[in-house]
Amino acid sequence: MRLRKRYSEASAPGKVVLFGEHFVVYGSPAILAAIDRRVHAKVRVSSGEEITILSGQKLGGSAGSGRIIKTQNGPEPKQLLEPLVECAKAVLSERGYKIGLNIELNSYFPMGVGLGSSAACCVAITAAVDSLFHQPTKKWICMKATESERRIHHDSSGADCNICTYGGIMYFTKGNGFKRIRVEKDLPLALLNTKETHSTGELVSSVKNYKDSNYPAFRGLAGSSKIISQKALNAIKHSDYRGVGGLMNQNQTLLQEIGVSSRKIQRLIDLCLKKGAWGAKLTGAGGGGCVISLFPPDKHSTFFRWIENNLKTCEPFPLKIDYEGALIH
Ligand code: MEV
Repeated sequence: MRLRKRYSEASAPGKVVLFGEHFVVYGSPAILAAIDRRVHAKVRVSSGEEITILSGQKLGGSAGSGRIIKTQNGPEPKQLLEPLVECAKAVLSERGYKIGLNIELNSYFPMGVGLGSSAACCVAITAAVDSLFHQPTKKWICMKATESERRIHHDSSGADCNICTYGGIMYFTKGNGFKRIRVEKDLPLALLNTKETHSTGELVSSVKNYKDSNYPAFRGLAGSSKIISQKALNAIKHSDYRGVGGLMNQNQTLLQEIGVSSRKIQRLIDLCLKKGAWGAKLTGAGGGGCVISLFPPDKHSTFFRWIENNLKTCEPFPLKIDYEGALIH
């Protein structure tokens, strides 16, 4: 395939897992939503054959040159940025090219807190690099990005790359892919950040250890997670927010059981429930990260003002759903 341009830009949204995280890795369904905050990847063809990634502040990185990138607050370069270099290389090799690239990554949401930053980076880089050659399909972007995300955490279910590529709200199973969920209006959700960062890969491994040493218990919990996600699908479709909230609370109990909640997560959840939320739970891998809470629609703005005043450090924001998914700019 011919190189058709020397510069391209693509972006992908972050995500929240509304239901079913971790159990989705073992075949239970999950419900995910894309959020209106994105990772942008700008790719420029350079001389030589080196691929460099320069990551912006929100990615926890300082300026980098050469293949090794120094990060300040984010994960070690080996954990994230090297797999992203591999992600770009994989696209080039598919197109039969060995060229140098300068990639600039900027994330407009925090990373390592359950909002899908690794998947969004893989999707944005895959889309940007491939669009140097032609207009890639979402199907191809998602497939290649999922392969790359598995270099960051090996047992990925693929759910995050699917939602970051296609956007919207989806019901996802590892074996059968996704079904879109249509809603009349956004769910009245708020997002709070514990600011405890985590490694998704490590949390997925810790759940695997739990499963291997408590298999009957895990099987029961995975069965409950499946039923909760199925009921939630129905409740979301019918805008039964009180029902959705109750199911979020049940889902949180399962996540506590497999050891991925934390004291800080629980404290935020308790506060939300005390303030009148219908439901609250961790979202994503857990072990810190973010909490989502769902409020009666008529109390959403009052509650939101309250968290903004009282829990400012948690960087709260109302969740808006992104319906576009990956974009080539
Ligand atoms: C992370 O956003 C979701 C997990 O279920 C991992 C995965 O599905 O690959 C924890």
